[in-house]
Amino acid sequence: MHMTDLIEKKKQGLELTEEEIRFIVNGYTAGDIPDYQMSALMMAILFRGMTIPETTALTMAMAHSGDMVDLSALGAFTADKHSTGGVGDKTSLVLCPMVAACGAKMAKMSGRGLGHTGGTIDKLESFPGFSTSMSPERFLEIAGTVGFVIAGQTANLAPADKKMYALRDVTATVNSIPLIVSSIMSKKLASGAKTIVLDVKTGSGAFMEKEKDAFTLAREMVNVGKQAGRNMAAVVTDMDQPLGFAVGNALEVKEAIAVLRGENVPDLKELCMVLGSNILVRSGLAADEAEARARLEESIESGAALRKLADMVTAQGGDASAVYDVSLLPAAPVQRRVKAPRDGYISAMEAKNIGLVSMHLGGGRATKEDVIDLCVGVVLAAKVGDRLRAGDELAVIHAADGKAAEEAEKELLECYTFSDRKPRRRPFIRGVVT
Ligand code: URA
Repeated sequence: MHMTDLIEKKKQGLELTEEEIRFIVNGYTAGDIPDYQMSALMMAILFRGMTIPETTALTMAMAHSGDMVDLSALGAFTADKHSTGGVGDKTSLVLCPMVAACGAKMAKMSGRGLGHTGGTIDKLESFPGFSTSMSPERFLEIAGTVGFVIAGQTANLAPADKKMYALRDVTATVNSIPLIVSSIMSKKLASGAKTIVLDVKTGSGAFMEKEKDAFTLAREMVNVGKQAGRNMAAVVTDMDQPLGFAVGNALEVKEAIAVLRGENVPDLKELCMVLGSNILVRSGLAADEAEARARLEESIESGAALRKLADMVTAQGGDASAVYDVSLLPAAPVQRRVKAPRDGYISAMEAKNIGLVSMHLGGGRATKEDVIDLCVGVVLAAKVGDRLRAGDELAVIHAADGKAAEEAEKELLECYTFSDRKPRRRPFIRGVVT
């Protein structure tokens, strides 16, 4: 087999066979196929697309390019969740303890944040001493006893994706649905969970800005996962404005704890209920959605979910006192109130730019090497559809110093559009794909 023939075949829009796809992925991972040929092939895929059997073959070859984690020792109810990334997305911090309290085993590998979206691991490091590096044995032990563990991604999980994603980043081939499907699903399949739920965001702060593309991505990921024998569901959700009110690492942990204590942050809580009920129903832990929702509510009311979070933090070496006393979480020295500049409704918010405000305050990374400030960020006081009077509180900026706060205020005010008429609101949950 010759790589040039395979590039030519895809360039003409023909279907690659499973064997050809395996040859490409194995050859590229081993270093036998050079970057320039792989770039040409990925550009051909971007323009010509892939059939479902091709995308499935690509995903499976990429998943098998490294370790396939074996979670069978944890029983039948292993589950995992993936989000395509958004602003203020602290879902895992709420969802994992809730479903763990209902009997699921969430053995998660997670990444650090880059750009305007934060990573779950960064957020969890708000607990002093918290560590995400551990032996595979300890990883399984915590998942088994607590029901919820979050580790950093191991070096040998889908190494083909690591190389391909880095190449896509510099060859303008990121936004290809089959390449995104195979990238995300190869890592999820290699991580070993039997049930996988996906949160596909759409809107101004999302990777998939158009809803139609988000649904196509959701359907294809569900399809590939099912063909690999996993229980699957994907939820398409709004990212035209941040999720919840808090944006910034420790601030998001505080908001997640508030939900686990019973506070209703409507979009965040509903997302956890939809993802959580899909985990419970698809894995067989609940008979139907009504039972699943009742059990998830009970996990909060009884305090069981909050205790799961504390148990996980303790098991991973962290000081869990802050779970019960959030004043112990790291806090920024400067807090600046931002006031509404005029009377009216908030008709739009630029979610991505609000993420960038937090990043510029020091809460996110521009490069992988950047050290982040866990304390800083923005807490919104109002969201799209809310009516304010000039001077009402719009948000509070948490900053390292007064100058940074002042600059952030200017940037933040640019993120809002106001109107005199109440804006039409689209539903937060756009649909569930099973
Ligand atoms: N996230 C991934 O892991 N891969 C992609 O291709 C896009 C988003």
